[in-house]
Amino acid sequence: MIQLQDIQKKIPQTNVLLFDNLNFALNNHQSVAIQGRSGSGKTTLLKILAGFDTRYTGLYKFNGLIVSKDPKKNIKFRKDNIGIITQNYNLLYDRNIQANIQLGLTEKSRNSTKEIKEILSLVGLSKYSTKKISEISGGEAQRVAIARALIKKPKILLADEPTGALDEQTELEILDLFKTIQALGTKLIMVTHSDAVANVCDGKYVLENKRLI
Ligand SMILES: Nc1ncnc2c1ncn2[C@@H]1O[C@H](COP(=O)(O)OP(=O)(O)O)[C@@H](O)[C@H]1O
Ligand SMILES: [Mg+2]
Repeated sequence: MIQLQDIQKKIPQTNVLLFDNLNFALNNHQSVAIQGRSGSGKTTLLKILAGFDTRYTGLYKFNGLIVSKDPKKNIKFRKDNIGIITQNYNLLYDRNIQANIQLGLTEKSRNSTKEIKEILSLVGLSKYSTKKISEISGGEAQRVAIARALIKKPKILLADEPTGALDEQTELEILDLFKTIQALGTKLIMVTHSDAVANVCDGKYVLENKRLI
């Protein structure tokens, strides 16, 4: 499904190499965890996989097709294939849960109440759809971010330290949700420091010495 070939990436200002000869292959049936020290490039790697960061050399193929290095040309690729949960969730705090989840859809399909109901039920927020983000807990905000990423039914869900800011009990609840998501057929690529989170995935990689090992 995903192939990265000989990726080389420099940090813009300093020209220091972040990735050198990085290779990665993910088949259709795997979910993987990515671990590595702070600053090793985990978030940058997710941005490349999402088609946001296109300033690298080497080849990125998704289902056999080359992902363009023109960010504008990647909008459709991302819309069709990729769901993203960023480290700080990027939710709109003055709007309610439902409005935030709708941001995951294109404008045309934003009023599809059936899909919103389904996804609220999946993430366990059916009763709270009109609550504002400023009025909910960190675990609930994480569920909203997951729902927003999943509502367009992406093939892959990229998650950047999805439980980093949560307590242990809430982490376990979110882990159960990730298991459900996987059972429903969405593949996960998760950056995580937590072995418990990594164990939800089929494989583990470490970003080390500018490569994925
Ligand atoms: N847009 C950017 N401009 C300059 N440096 C960046 C940028 N994004 C990331 N970096 C640098 O690249 C390195 C890797 O960052 P990041 O991918 O966020 O690592 P991680 O997620 O593993 O902690 C860091 O040294 C960071 O300072
Ligand atoms: Mg990071």
